[in-house]
Amino acid sequence: MSAPQVIVHASAPLLARSVAARLVTGLVDAQAARGHASVVLTGGGVGIDVLRQLRDNPARDAVDWRHVDIWWGDERFVPAADPERNERQAREALLDAVPVDSKRVHAFPASDGVAGGDPDAAAEWYAAELAAAAQPEDHGPVPRFDILLLGLGAEGHTASIFPGSPAAYEQRPVVAVRNCPKPPPTRLTLTFPALGAANQVWMVAAGQDKATAVALALGGAGWVQVPAAGAQGRARTLWLLDRAAASKLPPSVLRLPQS
Ligand code: 6PG
Repeated sequence: MSAPQVIVHASAPLLARSVAARLVTGLVDAQAARGHASVVLTGGGVGIDVLRQLRDNPARDAVDWRHVDIWWGDERFVPAADPERNERQAREALLDAVPVDSKRVHAFPASDGVAGGDPDAAAEWYAAELAAAAQPEDHGPVPRFDILLLGLGAEGHTASIFPGSPAAYEQRPVVAVRNCPKPPPTRLTLTFPALGAANQVWMVAAGQDKATAVALALGGAGWVQVPAAGAQGRARTLWLLDRAAASKLPPSVLRLPQS
């Protein structure tokens, strides 16, 4: 697992544009190496804004979108047409504007979808999708994601792993979580073993309300109390922040030139 590297940008809009540009390069590099790429998307305001900025990035079509596998780190367990769905928001922000291969867009089941309204069955269904995509050289029943995007809650959640949640202890790659503090209450989430299959994990956070969680997660807090602390990539872990979200970090953590 890789130690976190922190990069700070002057504002939330600049952060979103920078992460979008970084995503273009990351996907192009992965495709140059292997002919295809895989990315795990996140919900939340910052995560969806990154997708909008990627849609509007003039270099976006340097990515061969037909050969990108798209997964989600978590999903709200709501009907497919519900505007709260991360998949729906991602389609509106980016996916409907680029020529993705529909067979390579791996959305979680909706509450009115294949799992018949059972969130545990939906989690098992998605775990089977992941296992089917895993290659012999991958680590366990999850494919090696090239880039995995995550957002951060003010109290330290990431994906839909909330502080103190049993999901933080899970060894299964995907679980249903109920009574989540952030609505909607029932969600599906990758767990740490699945998140850790990613080559690169990018934690993207903006806003003063995230500053305490950022400082705790990077300051050595435990994964159960501050789940974001457990987000680590195999080769690289990036914390991509705006100045407000980084405002409680000690100077020693800010090792890179900051824009
Ligand atoms: C979700 C996200 C969640 C989100 C954070 C940050 O489905 O809600 O996966 O983990 O990324 O809560 O959300 P904001 O960027 O809106 O603060």
